[in-house]
Amino acid sequence: MLPEVLIAYTTRGGSTAEIAEALGVGLRDRGVMVSVQPMQCVESLQNWTAIILGAPLYIGRFPRDLHRFLAHHREELAGLRSWFFAIGPTENRPKDFDAARQQALRQLASYPWFHPAELRILGGRFDLQHLPFPYSLLRHLPSSAIRKFPSGDIRDWAAIRAWGRDIAGQVKPAA
Ligand SMILES: Cc1cc2nc3c(=O)[nH]c(=O)nc-3n(C[C@H](O)[C@H](O)[C@H](O)COP(=O)(O)O)c2cc1C
Repeated sequence: MLPEVLIAYTTRGGSTAEIAEALGVGLRDRGVMVSVQPMQCVESLQNWTAIILGAPLYIGRFPRDLHRFLAHHREELAGLRSWFFAIGPTENRPKDFDAARQQALRQLASYPWFHPAELRILGGRFDLQHLPFPYSLLRHLPSSAIRKFPSGDIRDWAAIRAWGRDIAGQVKPAA
């Protein structure tokens, strides 16, 4: 069987990687072949029927790896069915999801040729123990505001897998 769907993600603290894997499980549940890879390891998009990209928001922005990926694969992406998920809110408040969507849309506005079938905002994880550099340094400063943020992990695994199954149905309607 040929590879079908590529899930390419970037992560700084690891939570987006786990979401990408769970999404892959949902697609495989429906018989779709999936490869889940960090986007900086992806060289070509030639062999894929569809792609799902995922990235976390940090201070309103996506990591540089995503911007590099979009710029580098512009031509291949333009001809590929795509979906996009942005990770952000770590509390279940609609206003946080709305704000994250606005941030994601602003970031993606630089790539007007990129038309994912869906942009989905998914809840993430905030945990002082998993902060990426340089934020990890801040947790050692007693006066740092970051120490006051509530820890939370609102990743909804059942919903993520269900979305994977839903995408599988669109990629492979008979699946
Ligand atoms: C320093 C910092 C800044 C963040 N800024 C935002 C933000 O602007 N918008 C948002 O929706 N989420 C924000 N988040 C939440 C992250 O997107 C969330 O923790 C996500 O799960 C991180 O993904 P990763 O573990 O794959 O790096 C921020 C988190 C941290 C630690």
